[in-house]
Amino acid sequence: VSKSRSSSSAPVVAVVGATGAVGQEFLAVLAQRKFPFSQLKLLASARSAGKPQEFAGKTYKIEELTEDSFKGVDVALFSAGGSISKKFGPIASQAGATVVDNSSAFRMTDGIPLVVPEVNADALKGWKLGQAAPGQGGGGKGGIIANPNCSTIIMLVPVTPLHRAAHVKRMLVSTYQAASGAGYAAMQELETQTRDVLAGKKAEPKIFKYQYAFNLFSHNSDMYPNGYNQEEMKMVHETHKIWNDKNVHIAATCVRVPVMRAHAESIYLEFEQPLDEAKAKELLSKAPGVSIIDDRTNNRFPTPLDASHQDDVFVGRIRADISMNGASGSSSSKGLALFVCGDQLRKGAALNAVQIAELLL
Ligand SMILES: NC(=O)c1ccc[n+]([C@@H]2O[C@H](COP(=O)([O-])OP(=O)(O)OC[C@H]3O[C@@H](n4cnc5c(N)ncnc54)[C@H](OP(=O)(O)O)[C@@H]3O)[C@@H](O)[C@H]2O)c1
Repeated sequence: VSKSRSSSSAPVVAVVGATGAVGQEFLAVLAQRKFPFSQLKLLASARSAGKPQEFAGKTYKIEELTEDSFKGVDVALFSAGGSISKKFGPIASQAGATVVDNSSAFRMTDGIPLVVPEVNADALKGWKLGQAAPGQGGGGKGGIIANPNCSTIIMLVPVTPLHRAAHVKRMLVSTYQAASGAGYAAMQELETQTRDVLAGKKAEPKIFKYQYAFNLFSHNSDMYPNGYNQEEMKMVHETHKIWNDKNVHIAATCVRVPVMRAHAESIYLEFEQPLDEAKAKELLSKAPGVSIIDDRTNNRFPTPLDASHQDDVFVGRIRADISMNGASGSSSSKGLALFVCGDQLRKGAALNAVQIAELLL
């Protein structure tokens, strides 16, 4: 039962990083879903302090994030980067707030739930705003919950119902990741470079190492010695934690493409049990948070523009993996290929975090 917004029993909500790409999406999602609150605190750096911010017909002032920001706060939605989360997440939690963190700071920490509500809402069993977090000690009212990486969320929303039906043994994924995944500055870089190149000027890389307009490159996160970058290894480790199954073999190739908003992913799945494309389509058509666009006659499949500003993850190119089982459509097929698009500012970040907070009301 959702409480009335004006009710004093409704939670005090803080948004940390409210001026950023994810922060602004938080505000859009909170307003759209009529998330109940008695007070709203919008926090960002000293650079933004005092700036006006419209929300649901009212003007708020951005406040500077400090150690004293969380007194009386019930739920704190963090999206201001990993170092801010590492420092201020525990401070907010100690002050009694339940933190839902969008950075990678706590995702792999034991005892911190890593949650996609459609996939593993059960990881939040016993959690409630205003009550001690199960398993996090401290005796206070607060706690920390982690929001997974955007590419992981967009992959697991459609793949989990298939995994439940036929058990994924091996998963190979290639991503086509948008500028918005790297924040406002990256979106600006794509726009500026595109204008510059079209005007016959040289593109000047600032955020990324390489020309972004009319180009693409391997994901900009740091490389590990094994030849995979951080984004790719996040998809592996986070899936193992969310599915609570380290035996699924996963490899990813993550690529930044010159798309403004919404990530795309090509996913190959090998199952333990047979799963043909008709059954996969049936499962996906009933899956929460999934929409299908799969029209072979008209070559109409999901695009980042279809997914932009949408809650659902869009799925198409649903087909047997012919490299595994021969003829497409075979009922003994244990291999399936998909192409998915999802708005990573929305389901990949803000929406997923707000859905988590809704589970705690
Ligand atoms: N973009 C995505 O799709 C996505 C998806 C999942 C997770 N995330 C995570 O969300 C976080 C933010 O990403 P973003 O894309 O929204 O970046 P962004 O557009 O660059 O926004 C960064 C936000 O952090 C604030 N901030 C920076 N330094 C701060 C400080 N010292 N004190 C308080 N606030 C500070 C900024 O405030 P000012 O405006 O005052 O500088 C701004 O509100 C990152 O941890 C990122 O990994 C992003």
